Amino acid sequence: MNIHNSINTGKAIKLTIDGKVCKSTFGKTIIEIARENDIYIPTMCYLTKVKPIASCRMCIVDVEGVEGPILSCQEKATDGAVIRTNNKELYAERQNIMKLYNVNHPLECGVCDKSGECDLQNKTMEFNVETQPFTTREQHRPVENWGHVSYDPALCIMCEKCVRVSTEITGDEALQLKFGGYSSTIINTKIDKNYASLGEAAAVCPVGALVDTNFKYTTNAWELEKIPSACPHCGGGCQMTYEVKNDMIYRMTNNYEFTSLCGAGRYGFDYDNKNVSKDTKAFDLAVNAMKNADSILFANQITNEEALILQKIKELTGAKLISAEARAYQKFMSSYGEVTGKQLYSGTLKGISESKAIIVLGTKIYDDAPAVKYHINMASKWHRARVAYLHPLEDLEMKNIVTQFIKYEAGSEEGVAALLVDTLLKEFELPKGVQAFLDDLDIGNLSAESNVGEEELEFLRKSLIKKNDFSLVVGSDLYAHPRATQIAKILALLEKYANFNVLCVPPAGNAMGISLICDLDDEVSGKTVGYNVEADFTLSALGTNDSKNSLDMPALNQQEGTLTTNDKRVVPMNVALPYGGYVLNDIANALGLDARYTIDYTKQLPVAKGFKAETFDSLPNHFDASGVEHRGYLLSEQKVAVKVKLEEVEMLDGFDGAIVYHCNPKEQFSAFTNICNALAEEIFLLGSQQFATASKLSDGQKVSFVIDGVTFERVFKIDTSMKGTIALNPSYDMGLSAPLVSSYRFSRVDFMKAGS
Ligand code: SF4
Ligand code: SF4
Ligand code: FES
Repeated sequence: MNIHNSINTGKAIKLTIDGKVCKSTFGKTIIEIARENDIYIPTMCYLTKVKPIASCRMCIVDVEGVEGPILSCQEKATDGAVIRTNNKELYAERQNIMKLYNVNHPLECGVCDKSGECDLQNKTMEFNVETQPFTTREQHRPVENWGHVSYDPALCIMCEKCVRVSTEITGDEALQLKFGGYSSTIINTKIDKNYASLGEAAAVCPVGALVDTNFKYTTNAWELEKIPSACPHCGGGCQMTYEVKNDMIYRMTNNYEFTSLCGAGRYGFDYDNKNVSKDTKAFDLAVNAMKNADSILFANQITNEEALILQKIKELTGAKLISAEARAYQKFMSSYGEVTGKQLYSGTLKGISESKAIIVLGTKIYDDAPAVKYHINMASKWHRARVAYLHPLEDLEMKNIVTQFIKYEAGSEEGVAALLVDTLLKEFELPKGVQAFLDDLDIGNLSAESNVGEEELEFLRKSLIKKNDFSLVVGSDLYAHPRATQIAKILALLEKYANFNVLCVPPAGNAMGISLICDLDDEVSGKTVGYNVEADFTLSALGTNDSKNSLDMPALNQQEGTLTTNDKRVVPMNVALPYGGYVLNDIANALGLDARYTIDYTKQLPVAKGFKAETFDSLPNHFDASGVEHRGYLLSEQKVAVKVKLEEVEMLDGFDGAIVYHCNPKEQFSAFTNICNALAEEIFLLGSQQFATASKLSDGQKVSFVIDGVTFERVFKIDTSMKGTIALNPSYDMGLSAPLVSSYRFSRVDFMKAGS
């Protein structure tokens, strides 16, 4: 963007398109303003969410006073412009373009997956291309199987959308253009990685060239019922649509012009609790267990409405509510709010993608929250944002966008937070108490304990000096840290005094919703009922095999309700698949509550926490033509009392030597993603050669160890790309015990040899 443009960006302008007076702001392209005003301009290579590709020329328009047609997808609109989007010449040129697209495009629409929703098919008809006047020599170009997606070069029109998504949005950078006249093709430079994120590249393909391998040849697109919903996996609540036929989900699609799905959202859909009928005996036992429960344990995979039902049961029976991850997050945010005066962080995903500098601390962000990583990638690609990644483990999948990796010692997050804040607030005017806290820091000691060099911090400070629009992304390593509440207060100073766009990414599932709706307790006691957590009596959406101690529940793709996303939005989910059993609301009603449907609780979600008293059926669920999101509603900002009291920084010891980091791999978040066919992968305890030596383990050895009372049996595998003495241990395969693993993510464990 040049200086002139940046000065004028946002200024009100008025122009005429096809005789219609359109008011907008400077900085937008002609096509953006046309779409805001419901004026149609045909395109083949335009994809709203990436920068203009400008390769097809279908979007040409005439601008009065300008010689020759111009590309409306690329050209910024100017005040007073008079534009025509269609006339005889423009039509003829577009028709010619379509003829060229059809050169040697095989006539196999009858068997093509895209048939019925293909841009080439539609525009060939729209521009009346009835013959193929141009031809070239036929070439044999076989279909390539890239794992999750398949590529047919013969069908590819080289629009480049897939490449741009792979680069600008998901950042896997797997796809590239290979030029060669009529042999031009797309290549996958990382086939061995089988990136599930390429599903998003397939989603934007306007023809049948790049398709989901598993979906291919399974059904006709027009036979599928489309059910709009939201992804329940990581807490991002991304917009998604179930495509269903005969009570089976065939695929997930999304409004790809404006939104993106990660591999888990795209391929993690077959986790429904199948063939369940009403088991009245088990139901009576469940009601009885709930009535007498001292503690109700529950996982994050529940809707806001179910969280409210549990809260109401607590108010009725006095049972404790235990949801450990959500509780840790609740306490963290409560301390954070004591500094900012607001219930939640102020940051947004859009704020991240617009940032020029981003700091990531205390999260393996790509695995924890893919949509957040995508927004960091956008900032990197669009604004060359500096990305500082602070973590004990380097993430090789982030390497292409991270400009500075700062490695710190596990356990030293409080010291690191203090060092970071001290570094970044140097130029700011601060209240006396905060300044005194920073002045009292023993920088040398903190730096030595955390292993973060003062020169690294100085480099960070200098690299950010000329930047603006800062973001801070923090995550789950911090919430269960023994000093979590103090860390929250320290980091909140960056939002409060340096106007950082901060996102405290909630743990996977609906942890944010739970933390706002439920009055959670800390310690389990007495008789327990678990909802998707192992307990004395278990309500399980993973199926049951013992009706004396368990009752089936619907999975999240079998339920209506809302989720609260990490973008602070309350979004509706709809039923994709039928469910014949009892639901939590039936138990609540048997205990004396009174609601016909679970979604009767939508309008009762707590207004004091930012929810709105709106009925489920009144919640919108779409994007408008110019990309404005109308999905549910945004939580309203709630003020909380300010009481800044920072303590002296304490360093934890005991985290040297070989340790285990519990973090799920990409596309895995819970026992539910674990049972999805397309996401299945072998599970290991993964560590470096150095870890193997330090903990006396050999490659392929079976070991067992205990974290939070949960016994893991794992095969240890050496990963030669890893360094250091921290191994990765997932928990998503631990079924209903997985939610019990909720302590600080780094732990020292004793390895025992397990059966060979
Ligand atoms: S594979 Fe599809 S999206 Fe990619 S360049 Fe070819 S036609 Fe365009
Ligand atoms: S897992 Fe998260 S990032 Fe992926 S589609 Fe679902 S909500 Fe979006
Ligand atoms: S949409 Fe403008 S060149 Fe393709």
